[in-house]
Amino acid sequence: MKALVAYYSDTGNTKKVANAIYDAIEESEKEICLAEAASNLSEYDLIFCGFPVQSMGLPAKMGTFVKGLPEGMKVAFFATHGSLRGGVPAITAFYSAIGLAKDLKVMGTFGSRGVVKQGIIDALLKKATHRDWALEAQSAVGHPDEADLEDAKVFAAAVMTKAGEK
Ligand SMILES: Cc1cc2nc3c(=O)[nH]c(=O)nc-3n(C[C@H](O)[C@H](O)[C@H](O)COP(=O)(O)O)c2cc1C
Repeated sequence: MKALVAYYSDTGNTKKVANAIYDAIEESEKEICLAEAASNLSEYDLIFCGFPVQSMGLPAKMGTFVKGLPEGMKVAFFATHGSLRGGVPAITAFYSAIGLAKDLKVMGTFGSRGVVKQGIIDALLKKATHRDWALEAQSAVGHPDEADLEDAKVFAAAVMTKAGEK
């Protein structure tokens, strides 16, 4: 079994979660890199794809990456987002990612909150299209925290077990 953690991160939140997932992968060959730097993707049995939720979706770069994955690849999506865990502004992005993964085997999804700079929140609160998530994002200060990273590790271990069985 060989696993790749491929991620995209603007301000470092998703990178922290990516590193936690990488650390939690045991008893398997593993690599971690920015999604745009990933190569020879068919060498892997499982790819964790991480991204920041942007405008309730996944960044275009990550969309392109997911669409280019080899048919039948096992994937697990993880994301950071300013809004509350499990809420519409966050899970909409997972639905989009799963929609792009028609020819892939989706092993799971994991979301963690990620701090947004106050200046950005202040600006986006004034825009109707961003207001819902920006309101929730005000309480994301300090995330991802140690508890989030522990949850990410539990997620990674569960995905590894599942991918090994299927
Ligand atoms: C332009 C922009 C759009 C965003 N859109 C959303 C969103 O729709 N929902 C949400 O929950 N968070 C949103 N966020 C917050 C980011 O998803 C969050 O801060 C994330 O942790 C950033 O990850 P990174 O540090 O890896 O780039 C947005 C942030 C920016 C800057």
